[in-house]
Amino acid sequence: MFAVHLMAFYFSKLKEDQIKKVDRFLYHMRLSDETLLDIMARFQAEMQKGLGKDTNPTASVKMLPTFVRAIPDGSENGEFLSLDLGGSKFRVLKVQVSEEGKRNVQMESQFYPTPNEIIRGNGSELFDYIADCLADFMKTRGLKHKKFPLGLTFSFPCRQTKLEEGILLSWTKKFKARGVQDTDVVSCLTKAMKKHKDIDVDILTLVNDTVGTMMTCAYDDPYCEVGVIIGTGTNACYMEDMSNIDLVEGDEGRMCINTEWGAFGDDGTLEDIRTEFDREIDLGSLNPGKQLFEKMISGLYLGELVRIVLLKMAKAGLLFGGKKSSALHTKGKIETRHVAAMEKYKEGLANTREILTDLGLEPSEADCIAVQHVCTIVSFRSANLCAAALAAILTRLRENKKLERLRTTVGMDGTLYKIHPQYPKRLHKVVRRLVPNCDVRFLLSESGSTKGAAMVTAVASRVQAQRKQIDKVLALFQLTREQLMDVQGKMRREFEYGLKRDTHLMATVKMLPTYVCGMPDGTEKGKFLALDLGGTNFRVLLVKIRSGRRSVRMYNKIFAIPLEIMQGTGEELFDHIVQCIADFLDYMGLKGVQLPLGFTFSFPCRQTSIDKGTLIEWTKGFKATDCEGEDVVDMLREAIKRRNEFDLDIVAVVNDTVGTMMTCGHEDPNCEIGLIAGTGSNMCYMEEMRNIELVEGDEGKMCINTEWGGFGDNGCIDDIRTQYDEKVDEGSLNPGKQRYEKMTSGMYLGEIVRQILIDLTKQGLLFRGQISERLRTRGIFETKFLSQIESDRLALLQVRSILQQLGLDSTCEDSIVVKEVCGAVSRRAAQLYGAGLAAVVEKKREDQGLEYLKITVGVDGTLYKLHPHFSRILQETVKELAPRCDVTLMLSEDGSGKGAALITAVAKRLQQAQKEN
Ligand code: BG6
Ligand code: BG6
Ligand code: GLC
Ligand code: GLC
Repeated sequence: MFAVHLMAFYFSKLKEDQIKKVDRFLYHMRLSDETLLDIMARFQAEMQKGLGKDTNPTASVKMLPTFVRAIPDGSENGEFLSLDLGGSKFRVLKVQVSEEGKRNVQMESQFYPTPNEIIRGNGSELFDYIADCLADFMKTRGLKHKKFPLGLTFSFPCRQTKLEEGILLSWTKKFKARGVQDTDVVSCLTKAMKKHKDIDVDILTLVNDTVGTMMTCAYDDPYCEVGVIIGTGTNACYMEDMSNIDLVEGDEGRMCINTEWGAFGDDGTLEDIRTEFDREIDLGSLNPGKQLFEKMISGLYLGELVRIVLLKMAKAGLLFGGKKSSALHTKGKIETRHVAAMEKYKEGLANTREILTDLGLEPSEADCIAVQHVCTIVSFRSANLCAAALAAILTRLRENKKLERLRTTVGMDGTLYKIHPQYPKRLHKVVRRLVPNCDVRFLLSESGSTKGAAMVTAVASRVQAQRKQIDKVLALFQLTREQLMDVQGKMRREFEYGLKRDTHLMATVKMLPTYVCGMPDGTEKGKFLALDLGGTNFRVLLVKIRSGRRSVRMYNKIFAIPLEIMQGTGEELFDHIVQCIADFLDYMGLKGVQLPLGFTFSFPCRQTSIDKGTLIEWTKGFKATDCEGEDVVDMLREAIKRRNEFDLDIVAVVNDTVGTMMTCGHEDPNCEIGLIAGTGSNMCYMEEMRNIELVEGDEGKMCINTEWGGFGDNGCIDDIRTQYDEKVDEGSLNPGKQRYEKMTSGMYLGEIVRQILIDLTKQGLLFRGQISERLRTRGIFETKFLSQIESDRLALLQVRSILQQLGLDSTCEDSIVVKEVCGAVSRRAAQLYGAGLAAVVEKKREDQGLEYLKITVGVDGTLYKLHPHFSRILQETVKELAPRCDVTLMLSEDGSGKGAALITAVAKRLQQAQKEN
């Protein structure tokens, strides 16, 4: 009995002495809670640095956005292939995620070796090898000849701009294949897979193992928002608020950040913590100076740390009686699994003895106790350091959520964590001590990171399928060069039909003579009134033209025309116009002054003289009764009479295209075309009299108002009209009419966009499949909104806020799609304009028998003026389709009122000349 006690006493004394000895020797490796809190604070600062746009380039903790935005919601399904590369083992897997609701995942996998000559050889050989393994896996499991989406778990730091791409920043751990750094590993692997003609795989996602682990665990526990690996390497990821991620556009929701915490300290921040052993490990590693935090923690280095410590202690005569063995001198002889075995509860000491003996040493009892304690200190430090960094992440999560207490789950994986008997317990305990206000559940990822990677791939593959559907819709709006040339040709034919007496009546492009026969010559002068009706605004103007200097002064007032007047009776409409004129005259102090008036009336009118114009039919948003077939000048005169307050001398009725051409022609005599890209779409140009069969005489030129908006009303461009164009047409005031206008002008582009959005929403591709009341509202996308949404200067967030202003509650993804839809619709419009314009300039060039035509086009309209890309695309298209014409687009700054006044001036002069004769 006494002997037993004595033995026990002797043993505990021995143990105490050894522990004291080791503690003294490894003093620097024992970290107090105070130090850990300090490290935690440093890591918090590092995270902040990595997240900031300006600070990220110099941050050692890279905080890489992963483009994984949501944790699994159980709706994922499908069959996926997976590769898991970068941990201690390389695996190929097939994952089957079952139908909604059941949450059932089945996996088949196979390990493949990763020999050093492959992982440290040539990059292309590495990827060839991976592709070979994949092909082998597919072959042995009969998976060839079926297309599979693939998720790649690639456990190295990669900079991603999307899920299916990752630029390798640097190799870490055991890998060092040449020529891969700074390249996209997804394309490297895709290229290698192409060599296997018999397999068809589409890499949809690249995820870090931490991300895969988090997602694996989140599949079972939705609270999981952190993933930690303590294996060959160490790292963590967590869900960060988008508003804190400077490097990715958008503010909504969260995104998973791969911290790459292994590089913590690479800028020197941990020098006070690092020991001589750490420095030695680093010097002997594949990446000296890099991953300094990882090298104090992870499995690849832990055994080696112990070996270096033991060697030093032996050298100092503190172990093995000062004897060393050659194995103890050999790098890599002690591995993490040895450390784990030596720290086992019961067998630990026996294991230690065995391991040391295997290393060619002859350990005493005291040596074994000491070595075991060395292991404890080294692995405890590892757990402590992980705990400090993890505590920083948890604190960040808690603060992001503005919570007093955080309840969360951390997904864990990695061999060190899994096989070391004490590691998990120690880690958990320290974390809970460092962040007492977090209730943390640690969840071991039983099935590795692949299940999670498959979840990400499932979501990506759903997104990809949706993308295809969206692209299919957008493709309807993409016109080929041939299609545009076809439009140009047909437009040209319509011009000819419209001009010829025999075919005029059946022509959809009416080619209306305007009785405007010349361009301003600078001699025009006088004071004129002008009305400008039919565009976005109704305006009354006073225009003072001074001769010679081509200078014009204008005063104008904008009046609203209420919808009920636009679509009421003709009498009401014209009474309203006269009321506005009266207000204007009052306002200008001009009552009683009789001035000549030019009436810009932007609708198709059949004219027999400059001051007569019979409205053929309303277009755009007007539909007042009893006007079609009537002379609008007469109607205006009658309304003035009805009011019986003042008299006006209505000298000219002018289409807005003609007014615009004249406005620009006043400055540039080469301007022989007028173009409106506004509420409506139309073009006029100077035509040779000899070509105009409807008007007597062959001399000189006359302006033709083409009314090209009606182009296609006979179905000739139905091949490029989409179901959305048809819907817009059906909902318009003039179904079946103005088909070209409805594909090109401001009043309709927004409507086309709205129809597409409704359809995409119905297909579940937008707005979470919910069609809101707002989206059902006709006319919500005015030209100005369309133009704003498409502005390049606008961040996604601003697009979203415009949509929100419109009452459309969109996510960032929605906003991207809406912007693309707007782009496709407006691009087609600009191209169609280009085709129409190409038709007219080519005609003019040919008519004049010129090799090369130089011409100016006066342009007006809100679409042209506000849209960020319209004029560029228009210009490009004309250049492409009419290469022998040098077309200058000249913006009409002063509206068509000035032109109308100029026309009035000329007409007045002619009137007077006639009277005098
Ligand atoms: C595995 C995961 O379980 O753990 C891998 O599937 C991961 O993706 C690995 O890289 C990390 O641990 P270790 O110890 O293998 O590096
Ligand atoms: C204005 C002209 O500048 O542009 C009007 O003065 C013309 O005559 C209008 O109708 C066309 O653009 P929108 O966008 O107002 O229809
Ligand atoms: C290394 C890698 C990192 C990975 C970790 C765990 O730190 O750089 O990407 O997550 O090892 O495998
Ligand atoms: C409509 C009108 C046309 C006008 C154009 C631009 O197409 O019919 O006359 O020029 O809109 O406002």
